[in-house]
Amino acid sequence: MDDRIQTDAMTEWIRSRLDHDEGYLLEMALQARAKHIPICLPETAALLKVLVRMAAPMRILEAGTAIGYSAAIMSMCQPLGGILDTMEIDEDMAEQADNHLTALGLSKRVRVLRGDAADTMQCLQTPYDLIFLDAAKGQYMNYLTEALRLLTPNGLLICDNVLYKGLVAASEVKHKHRTIQTRLVHFLDELLHHPSFETSLLQIGDGITLSVRKNGGNA
Ligand SMILES: C[S@@+](CC[C@H](N)C(=O)[O-])C[C@H]1O[C@@H](n2cnc3c(N)ncnc32)[C@H](O)[C@@H]1O
Repeated sequence: MDDRIQTDAMTEWIRSRLDHDEGYLLEMALQARAKHIPICLPETAALLKVLVRMAAPMRILEAGTAIGYSAAIMSMCQPLGGILDTMEIDEDMAEQADNHLTALGLSKRVRVLRGDAADTMQCLQTPYDLIFLDAAKGQYMNYLTEALRLLTPNGLLICDNVLYKGLVAASEVKHKHRTIQTRLVHFLDELLHHPSFETSLLQIGDGITLSVRKNGGNA
């Protein structure tokens, strides 16, 4: 028997068991799929909801808004009074996200920050309890430095698509994918051994890292 559990059939089976989006969120997910806009996978969305409810972050920062789907599901799981800032470089995406977040009644809790996420992060000062990286995968190293500065002690850093459909471990890679492979492998090596983070790499969705910012303490 093959000992790999993450087959396509297993993924489909897991997805069939998860709660499905309803109402406006379902419309957003369908719209994203129809327009080929990459939003987080269903199993990633389920994990994000659990993590936000567990960590109960009052302040969340997201890199990569797209149409605001993950921002919406995270915001809905935050404690009362929680706020979420999400950064998006594409003006059309940011506009769509603003409209969707308004339609969902989240416009007072979620702020869409327009511009390059790395530049925007450098301008932010108030710390966040949870940071979710889901923008340009080749920029993750740059985001890491700023995320460390902006995370509260014991804050949670979540990075999506870190396995990039298996590209990180591929031995033969097309020329056009070499840079992203090199950058992601470098990022993972750095994060997995970073003295300020306790990190777990999960084979969920397209690969996710969960890192907790260490709070001094005993090593
Ligand atoms: C995978 S999508 C985000 C999906 C979204 N988090 C969700 O699950 O609903 C990545 C988004 O990051 C944006 N992006 C790419 N490079 C960026 C950058 N340098 N700064 C900010 N946003 C960027 C893209 O325009 C795209 O909308």
